[in-house]
Amino acid sequence: MTSVSLGIPAITSATGPDPARPDHPGLVDRYGRVATDLRVSLTDRCNLRCTYCMPPEGLDWMPAEQALTDGEVVRLVSIAVEQLGVRQVRFTGGEPLLRRGLERIVTGITSLRPRPKVSLTSNGIGLARRAAALAEAGLDRVNISLDTLRPERFREISLRDRLSDVLGGLAAAAATDLHPVKVNAVLLRDVNDDEAIPLLRYCLERGYQLRFIEQMPLDAQHGWERSNMITAEEILQHLNAEFRLEPDGEERGSAPAERFLVDGGPAVVGIIGSVTRPFCGDCDRTRLTADGQLRSCLFSQGETDLRGPMRSDASDEELADLWRDTMWRKAAGHGIDDPGFIQPSRPMSAIGG
Ligand code: 5AD
Ligand code: SF4
Repeated sequence: MTSVSLGIPAITSATGPDPARPDHPGLVDRYGRVATDLRVSLTDRCNLRCTYCMPPEGLDWMPAEQALTDGEVVRLVSIAVEQLGVRQVRFTGGEPLLRRGLERIVTGITSLRPRPKVSLTSNGIGLARRAAALAEAGLDRVNISLDTLRPERFREISLRDRLSDVLGGLAAAAATDLHPVKVNAVLLRDVNDDEAIPLLRYCLERGYQLRFIEQMPLDAQHGWERSNMITAEEILQHLNAEFRLEPDGEERGSAPAERFLVDGGPAVVGIIGSVTRPFCGDCDRTRLTADGQLRSCLFSQGETDLRGPMRSDASDEELADLWRDTMWRKAAGHGIDDPGFIQPSRPMSAIGG
């Protein structure tokens, strides 16, 4: 048989569609999970250089022409919301506030129906200036990274002297009603592991919801060592010395954080034991990188290119089906404890937290 090329780009994933995939409109996988939470990395750049994330000199940033335009981001997120059942969209980076079109993108996404929840995971630098415009665009919430309250240490961890900008960003988020304001902290052995209690006090006093995250092997330098990771268990031990913690009794669902009432509540603290207490079995995430690659997991070895097909005039339906196919193949877990574990080649700053 001869075939005639009609100039239509072939859209196939690495191994072709799996005939076992059910005819379901959503992002289902072989393990019964349904992805409804989309993380979109808007840039791989950052204005900090956190030692557990990237080297001091930074990384080779993505060339501009490879990055999705604002319009392309909105188109892909629209497909996810309107056709694939995504209900929650989080913008991440690198540092998403470095993306000039952020307000416009947020407006585009909050105009979709059904309107998804839209949040931002940021280091907070520059948020003081933009919180009002972002709230106006429809942003619902923010997660801000804060690993230390000491300016000297902040410089030691992030190689920049920006602690006051971060704290200012947090205060602006709270004043602008981007609630609940969540704070992410990573504790590093012999660097800031004596700050669990001060960080929690600081957040309790201001009504921020603090979550500690176990350090994961996702740094660009591949310097992660298990022995340097402060585990969920250790964090609990630190906090128990000062606070009475009890499980908050709420269904955890797909939320990665185990939540504890602090001194009887209503304040809570979260602990995300990504490594020692993995929640992969309940994961509801799907991820899009700033250059338009789909990932079913932070730790995926493979990606599906959506940018290429999109720029070759693929239809929404074709892109949606590539997305379904990618998620159908999602692995059961991150496999950090498997003997053959291989850290993904993309670092966290280029995938999105
Ligand atoms: N392990 C755990 N958390 C990390 N983050 C960045 N790199 C890592 C890592 N290797 C955090 C940031 C931010 C969020 C996006 O993830 O501190 O709060
Ligand atoms: Fe930037 Fe976040 Fe990486 Fe720190 S952890 S360098 S804030 S992307």
